Amino acid sequence: MIYTITLNPALDRTLWIQKVRDDVSNRILEEKSFAGGKSVDVSKVLKNLGVDNIALGFVGGFAGRELEGRLLNEGIQTDFVHVSGETRTNIIIHEKETGKQLAFNARGPEIRPSELMEFVEQMERLPCGAIVAIGGSLPLGVAPEIYRKIITIVKRCQSTVVLDVDGVALRVGILARPDVIKPNIHELSELVGRELKGLDEIVAAAREINRQGVKIVLVSMGGKGILLVSEEKEYLAEPPNVEVQSTIGAGDSSVAGFVYGIMAGKDLKESLIYATATGTATAMSQGTALCKKEDFEAILPQIKLSVLRVEGKG
Ligand SMILES: Nc1ncnc2c1ncn2[C@@H]1O[C@H](COP(=O)(O)OP(=O)(O)OP(=O)(O)O)[C@@H](O)[C@H]1O
Ligand SMILES: [Mg+2]
Repeated sequence: MIYTITLNPALDRTLWIQKVRDDVSNRILEEKSFAGGKSVDVSKVLKNLGVDNIALGFVGGFAGRELEGRLLNEGIQTDFVHVSGETRTNIIIHEKETGKQLAFNARGPEIRPSELMEFVEQMERLPCGAIVAIGGSLPLGVAPEIYRKIITIVKRCQSTVVLDVDGVALRVGILARPDVIKPNIHELSELVGRELKGLDEIVAAAREINRQGVKIVLVSMGGKGILLVSEEKEYLAEPPNVEVQSTIGAGDSSVAGFVYGIMAGKDLKESLIYATATGTATAMSQGTALCKKEDFEAILPQIKLSVLRVEGKG
């Protein structure tokens, strides 16, 4: 089974307004709420691709209930730990006149230590041999150490871990040797402590992290595609030129694409192509909309794969 973990999920309340004006009361033309959060996006893309998965993390209050109900309606299983605080609601405003989007992200509830331990116990009960995708920011009251803890627990029984977090959380998470990480160039630069210019420098940085025990480093580079670095193989997958609508959720979609590949028993090369196609399909979708199966299938044959290095058996 595939599990996705979002410790600080959100209800994304999206408002459509003609044009934001500061001197009048702005009329809301349309409003919708969506279940949001990094790994919640991974769950949604997997579902769009026809892959069952279970979303985990913390939810609380009315917004938490709403989030769970929305995922249920989308056919996504959930097993969230219920907390005493209220799940955050982010506000996203679309200006129809300009096409601009304003986002206001809330901090979310503080998680009590006892609630955190309930989650840790849940990790200990996960079945062996699962795929676990972890992504997103930490809620108040939870230290980055949680990622090292989760990874250590689930790897004890042969689960595969994909970690897509940034900053200190990524640095601490790596100490437990996740199988896959997917930083963008920014996140990788921060991790190695230097600015990365050009593919050679990016490859060198990814190799450093690979040597620290992360089997597969996927570096996503926006429209330039994704670089894969493992001990024996280095590949670059590049998307075609497409009309980009919104890249919101592109990275999360790439994580889902890679997980889909592993789950379907594809090799690294093919899984990388999947990751690139899902990200690009999301970039072609408007606003917060994510990769759909037909877009993924249409992009797939257009991804260009280059072998940068292969040692041992190809
Ligand atoms: N402008 C673009 N054109 C084509 N494909 C794109 C574009 N931007 C993103 N993608 C696709 O999506 C993938 C992931 O995007 P990106 O590198 O921007 O991730 P990210 O920075 O982690 O994003 P996120 O904000 O979702 O965390 C890319 O590798 C690529 O396949
Ligand atoms: Mg990202």
